[in-house]
Amino acid sequence: MPTSRSSSPRILRPTPANLARLAATLRHGGIVGVPSETVYGLAADALSEDACAGIFKAKGRPTTDPLIVHLASARELGRVAEVNDAARALAAAFWPGPLTLVLPKLACVPDLVTAGKATVAVRVPAHPLFRRLIRLAGRPLAAPSANPFGYVSPTTAAHVREGLSGTALRSVLDGGECRVGVESTILDLSQPGRPRLLRPGGLPVEEIERVLGRPVSRPRPARLSAATAAPAPGMLARHYSPRTPLSLHPRLDGAFLARLPGDEAVLLLRRPADAPARGADPRLRWLSEDGELATIARHLFAELRALDGAGWRRLHAELPAGGEGLAPAIRDRLTRAAAKR
Ligand code: TXA
Ligand code: MG
Repeated sequence: MPTSRSSSPRILRPTPANLARLAATLRHGGIVGVPSETVYGLAADALSEDACAGIFKAKGRPTTDPLIVHLASARELGRVAEVNDAARALAAAFWPGPLTLVLPKLACVPDLVTAGKATVAVRVPAHPLFRRLIRLAGRPLAAPSANPFGYVSPTTAAHVREGLSGTALRSVLDGGECRVGVESTILDLSQPGRPRLLRPGGLPVEEIERVLGRPVSRPRPARLSAATAAPAPGMLARHYSPRTPLSLHPRLDGAFLARLPGDEAVLLLRRPADAPARGADPRLRWLSEDGELATIARHLFAELRALDGAGWRRLHAELPAGGEGLAPAIRDRLTRAAAKR
């Protein structure tokens, strides 16, 4: 008898037969790992409370933390939420893409999905395979990031398999490495006259302000303590966290690297001028060649995972400066990753 490998989800290539099989799993109330342009998601039928219960169970996620509902197109927004002009303008400008809108919910959305709130978070993902699966399943799909609650988010199908083996998850659709690499920007539009940023993410907030023609209020940046109040449910001070202790630095210079103990490693934003070849000094890794924020964001979670699995006693990471572009999202993820338990 072959040994059973049933506790580890299978990674499926995106063939028509596999897509049809995954859509059937979703229609029957099952959970499926799916690629998105931001991070991999753990999807279920958003209109079925039983199906969504499977997401919370597999992730070990508290039911106080609501889920994002994913649609195949902006035309379907009115099926799950009360739409307003601001939402219509942003959907036309940025969907499909890394923007999640929080709007008053309609009765068809189960309370479990919204953690009992009167609002629902919605987005149209840019990954074509995710949208194809939503269409084939014939219903909106709720999906949080496909990682155990609190751990570093997954940006490859292999990350999902590693993190969620031993759960009820049977299959992950392989859509390659995530292009954006950090989660969507979440904007609360439940009071359209007072747009509020709930989570910085893959869409810079200044682009949202340009389309709305008004300022968006921002939460105070995450602090380095778990006691910090959460601006949104689930926006915990400690999140996205490696198991290895992580320290943050505005800049890691040559003097710091020269004093670095042999059992500690650093994650730089860009290749240092006098760097050895990549991999020559295993304590030294970098997120980009030239400091480009999009490249840094794309590699951030995968590098944190690689360092976390390598047995270092402590990790050090550089924080990007600046309030524009992807810098706030990268800073937010690193700050929460480093927050004390
Ligand atoms: O890029 C993304 O957004 C990914 C991909 C898979 O779409 N999803 C994702 O989901 O990051 P998750 O569950 O890891 O984060 C969703 C966040 C949570 O912090 C949750 O509290 C917030 O969205 N959220 C969901 N519904 C909300 C609501 N009605 N009001 C305020 N926050 C909400
Ligand atoms: Mg998450």
